Amino acid sequence: MLTTVRGFKDILYPQSELFTAIEIAAREIFKIYNYKEIRLPTVEYYELFVKSTGETTDIVEKEMYKFEDQSKRMLALRPEGTPGIVRAYINSNLNLKGENSKFFYIGNMFRAERPQAGRYREFEQIGAEYLGNASPYADAEVIMMLDSFLKKLGIKSYTPEINSIGCTECRKKYRGVLINHLKNIDLCDDCKNRIGRNPLRVLDCKTDRDKLKDIPHIELCTDCRTHYESVKNILTTNNLKFKENYFLVRGLDYYTRTVFEFKTDQLGSQDAVASGGRYDTLVKSMGGPDSPSVGWAAGVERIAMLVEKNDTLIKEKDLFFVVSMDKAYSEYCLKILTELRKNNIRADFSNFSVSIKSQLRSANSNGAKYALIIGDDEYKTNTITLKNLSNGEQKKTNLNEIIQIMH
Ligand code: HAM
Repeated sequence: MLTTVRGFKDILYPQSELFTAIEIAAREIFKIYNYKEIRLPTVEYYELFVKSTGETTDIVEKEMYKFEDQSKRMLALRPEGTPGIVRAYINSNLNLKGENSKFFYIGNMFRAERPQAGRYREFEQIGAEYLGNASPYADAEVIMMLDSFLKKLGIKSYTPEINSIGCTECRKKYRGVLINHLKNIDLCDDCKNRIGRNPLRVLDCKTDRDKLKDIPHIELCTDCRTHYESVKNILTTNNLKFKENYFLVRGLDYYTRTVFEFKTDQLGSQDAVASGGRYDTLVKSMGGPDSPSVGWAAGVERIAMLVEKNDTLIKEKDLFFVVSMDKAYSEYCLKILTELRKNNIRADFSNFSVSIKSQLRSANSNGAKYALIIGDDEYKTNTITLKNLSNGEQKKTNLNEIIQIMH
């Protein structure tokens, strides 16, 4: 039997409907905050991610699906959306368009991580990027927008965690202090490797967390400190509750200053529903204009796990199921179906040639609210027997009456 590839999955109904509802809620929020959609390609040059996500990150080093195409070009399935947005922004001179450079994307990402609950090799991200604005109000806006999005979905069980990892200068100074401390700690093998290459990442390690309790915090320069204090003040003034977490450093190379994760205790070890931060130097380092930026991405599978029990999100119209007592009435039944659908009423049927019992079984398995039963009398008098499938009540009526009631 052919199966899906490990870490890849089918999303079946009604989960598929839940994913759609989450995407619709996101689109509504993005409209309100004036973010414009960019549909990004799934495949990019491998180089793009090396230059942006970062050569020493787990994503690029271990998790990328990279391959050579027929022309021997090294390509990759995108592991995240930010590099593609930055590339599009530079390629299409979007900074010159005279409007706010606020973008969103919805799409599947690929990372060859070890699969587990809430962690897949193909997963969907909904992301937002605010390019070209260095103000703390931009940080606060994207964080507040993420909060509104999750609230709109009825999700309450999360805590926004924030931190500042400073600018390149702050980190350069901190690097020495950090390495000096880390040298005296017996770290896990991964972290031993990180010390020389990217010591900040050690702070993110769950295995070594207890050993790092006394590690000195980063000392921010005046500008970075002022920025961080402003972001926190704006959030507090706007009643957005957050927790500061000095160990939050994020696993991608492009971040500067503010970083954040919306964490939940409902999903086991995959506890980040959404995460992001500021990336002030990325656009310029990729050959674009100086465009300090900030953004986030949310994992749709993880959001779906948090809203799964809340089926009010999927508000489908009532389904009417047309059932025929005899295949001789098929044409009449089809006419009813067509009229209902023309009038925006959700309607379906199974097979007019099989027993009425079997047709009603189909109605039930499709979650129909009503059966429209057509027998000899209904056929001759141009009427319909409308049966409420939840309480069994039925009455004789006709198409016009049903259409009128449903409007
Ligand atoms: P990230 O933290 O790598 O950031 O991913 C963002 C979110 O995607 C995570 O919080 C999580 O919900 C979801 N996610 C990540 N990996 C997986 C996986 N293997 N399976 C399921 N869900 C996953 C970024 O991707 C940045 N581009 C975010 C960003 C945008 N920063 C600035 N702008």
